[in-house]
Amino acid sequence: MSGRILRVAQMGHPLLKERSKEVENPSDSKVIELIKDMEATVNYLNCSGLAAPQVLVPLRIVIFRVLTTTDNPSYVLTPEYDPDGVPWTVMINPVITPLSNEMMTGWESCLSLPGLMGRVPRYHSIEYHFLNKEGTQEKRVAHGFHARVVQHECDHLDGILYPTKIKDMNDFGFKEEIVRSNY
Ligand code: NI
Repeated sequence: MSGRILRVAQMGHPLLKERSKEVENPSDSKVIELIKDMEATVNYLNCSGLAAPQVLVPLRIVIFRVLTTTDNPSYVLTPEYDPDGVPWTVMINPVITPLSNEMMTGWESCLSLPGLMGRVPRYHSIEYHFLNKEGTQEKRVAHGFHARVVQHECDHLDGILYPTKIKDMNDFGFKEEIVRSNY
């Protein structure tokens, strides 16, 4: 029983600017179905993260992974990369707490802004907790790129897209050009 591949909304869609609502019952059949569809969508797109509002469901659900360096050597632009990666993780109602005020600036891209990337400051170290698919609380500590991905995805739940956090708009552009000029 595989899920459906959902359409991903692009920047400009009003729902991407809204705060999504807490999931009240993680075992609700609609929530389970949505998660299956989100899993099918990220597999199909071979991407690293997706938040429910991006598929036009305003609920606090995120799915993400961090590839190992060997799986994705193109991460040369990301010095804070976590070489071990993080397996696919579904988060319901995630909450982030920064562990210090230390910030790091790094490149990000997003399914809702295809072809583009930008340099965004994020907390270097965070703690985050969430309900997993089984409805149990999980708590993790993350640094570097792992922390970046979690902050990016959770921002979607608050209606925030990464370009609004870019400090210098010269650090925003098309991925193809930026990667080419940085290799
Ligand atoms: Ni995104």
